[in-house]
Amino acid sequence: MRHERQLEFLQKVADAGPRMTGFHVTDSMRNPASVYTDPGRLHHEMHVLFKGRPTCFALSCEIPNAGDYRSAQVGGIPIVVIRQDDGSLRAMTNVCRHRGSPLVEKTGFGSGLKVLSCPYHSWTFEVDGSLRGRPGSQGAFDDLLGDFSLGHVSVSEHVGLIFVQVAGPREESLQSDAAVVDLEVCLGAAQDDLEAFGLAGYTHIESRTSTWNMNWKLVIDTFTESYHIRSLHRDSIAPHYLSYSVASESLGDHTLSLGLRRSILEEMKKPKTDWSLLPHATIQYLLMPNVVLTHQQHHVEMWRVEPMSTNKSVLTTSVYAPTKPHSERSHQFFVKNLDLLLGVTNTEDFPLMERIQANLESGALPELVYGRNEGPLIRFHQSINRLLAGTPPSKNPNEAIRPKRIP
Ligand code: FES
Ligand SMILES: [Fe+2]
Repeated sequence: MRHERQLEFLQKVADAGPRMTGFHVTDSMRNPASVYTDPGRLHHEMHVLFKGRPTCFALSCEIPNAGDYRSAQVGGIPIVVIRQDDGSLRAMTNVCRHRGSPLVEKTGFGSGLKVLSCPYHSWTFEVDGSLRGRPGSQGAFDDLLGDFSLGHVSVSEHVGLIFVQVAGPREESLQSDAAVVDLEVCLGAAQDDLEAFGLAGYTHIESRTSTWNMNWKLVIDTFTESYHIRSLHRDSIAPHYLSYSVASESLGDHTLSLGLRRSILEEMKKPKTDWSLLPHATIQYLLMPNVVLTHQQHHVEMWRVEPMSTNKSVLTTSVYAPTKPHSERSHQFFVKNLDLLLGVTNTEDFPLMERIQANLESGALPELVYGRNEGPLIRFHQSINRLLAGTPPSKNPNEAIRPKRIP
């Protein structure tokens, strides 16, 4: 985030009033509980949000060298992205063309890949996905002609981020002429901020994956408001943050939101020209639909959730350092940051979200309500509704919900 942008945002914070009511959105929102429980709704979301549009897959620094790879599911499809000898990326289905075995682990990383070899009967594939060999093929498979390359998946890299798209907007399944990744959809109005972070120069420290018994949207909901901090996190992070309202801005389909540390109050007593936002805020970009990319004072982190079913989600949390740690001690500093993050979410946030999911499934609550102080939460669900309805985002990013100054 450029310095002028930081000043601009801090001025908005100053103008928002002591309880930041200036960031409240115009209207509250009601959402049926079924959006978290209905299999038909999930099917629609997978088709439109996860397959028919590009989604953020990883940071480029996770697979910096030729032969490095990263595997994960995207819209339910197992895929692997591999760095090629010429530095470009190829993405393909992690599914053997013989009888469907995975070629590498379902969710993971690796390096030094020269060939993909199937563990079942040892068919081999080049790192660009083309078929290399079928052992014992003569008299067995030589009457099967045609292309046995791995399924092609579109991939693109921009401002240090990797995006993939598994199908075209109207395709139910993978298409051979893969979709073009539209960078405007990937980043939109978030591009300028993200470019300024210089993510391409970061170093991947560690990723951890966990499975939770809840709808994928509850993972994202967790990060979209600060209203819960003073109660749910009263014994952990609450003393460090202002939690009346969340400072946020619509970035087309995506959303920027800021968790402000209490230290910001001291910062804003300085002359405006000396103001700095980055040391005093947790800066979150919700990249639709399923990634929260966060800049903290000392690191960047990514939360990427993948739906498995209406009430089961896989979450991968990754931490990145701005420069390569020069010692084991400095590496451990970032590992400790990851421990602290997950220490809060895995004991305070997500266990409660699992119980909320169970309550919603019980039928005890017909609808949830989101308050005007939960702006990014409302923006997230409005973006989903708009995309599912097939309507384009508003030209004016703040047209749908205008921040309103409350006297
Ligand atoms: S399933 Fe891969 S070689 Fe048989
Ligand atoms: Fe939380």
